[in-house]
Parts: sequence; structure tokens; C-alpha cells
Amino acid sequence: MEKTTLTLDQKYKFYEEAVQNAEGEVETLQDLYKSIRKKKAKILREDFCGTGAVMCNWVKQGEEFKSFGIDLDPEPVVYGKENHYGKLSDEQKKRVEYIMGDVFDTDTEKADLIIALNFSYFIFKRRKQLIDYFKKVHEHLDEDGVFVLDLFGGPESMMPLQEKTKYDDFNYYWDCDKFNPITHECLYHIHFKPKGGKKVKRVFTYDWRMWGFAELREILDDAGFSQTIAYWEGDDNDGGGNGEFFPTEEIDNCDGWVGYIAALK
Ligand SMILES: C[S@@+](CC[C@H](N)C(=O)[O-])C[C@H]1O[C@@H](n2cnc3c(N)ncnc32)[C@H](O)[C@@H]1O
Repeated sequence: MEKTTLTLDQKYKFYEEAVQNAEGEVETLQDLYKSIRKKKAKILREDFCGTGAVMCNWVKQGEEFKSFGIDLDPEPVVYGKENHYGKLSDEQKKRVEYIMGDVFDTDTEKADLIIALNFSYFIFKRRKQLIDYFKKVHEHLDEDGVFVLDLFGGPESMMPLQEKTKYDDFNYYWDCDKFNPITHECLYHIHFKPKGGKKVKRVFTYDWRMWGFAELREILDDAGFSQTIAYWEGDDNDGGGNGEFFPTEEIDNCDGWVGYIAALK
């Protein structure tokens, strides 16, 4: 019988290869912070950190950089401690901390940069929950602090669709199962097919509300942020994005997009 499950190592290795670029993310975040505050961010808080890939890469920038991340699920944290934290030097390890907790009620020291990536805050389906979370973030930012969140959208992301991408060791499937145009509640799954194995369905499931630029910026304003900046991705001239983001207020629409918002304390 062929196996129909993945090992923990496969699960998070495939996830990170398909949906994350932790090193690139550190560079993008630092560039973004520098363009706003004219200096480097030193202390990073990674909300919904999962394996903590970004915060572990953060401390590789040098001895003055420090990071901590919050997640309530021990499973990705265990993987991250072994595969990211475990590979840092003893000196770097002293500057990283995994915090098992809920982003709503975990008190941390203040950070220069707080991030909520891979749309993790989409789990908050009500405006009231989101504003409470954003207020918590605001409270934990330093005076020059910046909160960065990503978002996605476009008509393609709202239609039932299964998108397949091939990698060396596996195939990755992004599956839009349901989208409710009235509530913007949506259900997505990630499936993986290891090389030579059977497709393992619903390795990750996301039961979300898809929030848009306009409403998020209003909610961030209401949570006390002084300014928000919208970032749009550059074009690769082949129907896709080039991984580089620029601030803008006006842009042509497209079928599917990913963007960032920087919210300033
Ligand atoms: C979509 S994953 C994102 C992981 C990682 N940040 C990334 O960019 O790929 C969402 C993570 O949020 C965590 N999570 C969900 N609700 C949370 C909460 N209220 N407080 C802390 N973590 C939470 C889950 O355990 C999961 O690891």
C-alpha cells in the first residue's frame, strides 16, 4: 500500500518551499522599513510564526538583531526549532525566542517591526476581532514601529480553482474550494503529491475571510495607526509578479494579486 500521509518533515519542508521565501522576506521587510524610517529595524516580532523561518533568518543579519515569534500550535514550532533554530549558531540562538501563545493575549517587549504574513490574520472573520488584534499590535510597537501584513485577491482567487505547481520532490496544489461573495468567507486547501507517491489532500486547510486593501486600511486607522502605505507587486512581463513591491495608490486591476500594507505607529 502506498502511503497517504506525509511525515512532519515533508509537510513543513514542502510548505516552506512552496509558499515561503524566508531569506527574501527578511530583505523585503528590511528594505520596506528602511524606506519608511530611514534606518534598519532591529527587533522583529513574527505573529503566527509557525516554524519561525522568518525570525530565524532575521538574526542572521548581525549581532544587533533580535526576534521573537508567537504561535499557538506546537507542531510547526517543533519542526522550526529543529530545522531553523537548530541550525543557528549558539550566539544567534540567544537572540531568537519562540513564544507559545495567542496573538491576542501574549505580552512581549516592544518591537520595531511586527509582521503577520501568509494572510494568517484572515482567520479573524469579524471586524471587531480584527480591530482588537490590530490594537494589540499597535500597543506592542516601538515609537518608530511598523506593522506589515500581506493580502491577496483578484477575481481568480474567488473562483473554484485548483492550481498545480511542480517542484523537484513534490507537486503543490492551491485549491480554492469555496468563496462566498456576500460575506467574503472562503475555504482554501493545500494538497501535496510527493514524487512517486499519491496525492495527499488537505494537508493544510484555511477557513478565512478575505479582507481587501480598503477595509484593512480603515480598520488599521481605527486601531490607532497614524498612516498606512499600500504596496503592489511589479510585473514580470509574463503575466506574473516579479517579487518586488512598490508603494502606490492607483493601479490597473488584474486577475490575481498579492500585496502588502505597512501600518505606521
Ligand atoms: C497560515 S500559517 C502561517 C505560518 C507562517 N507565518 C507563514 O508565513 O507561512 C498560520 C499560523 O497561525 C497560527 N495561529 C492561528 N491562530 C493564532 C493565534 N490566535 N495566535 C497565534 N497563532 C495563531 C497557526 O497555528 C499557524 O501556524
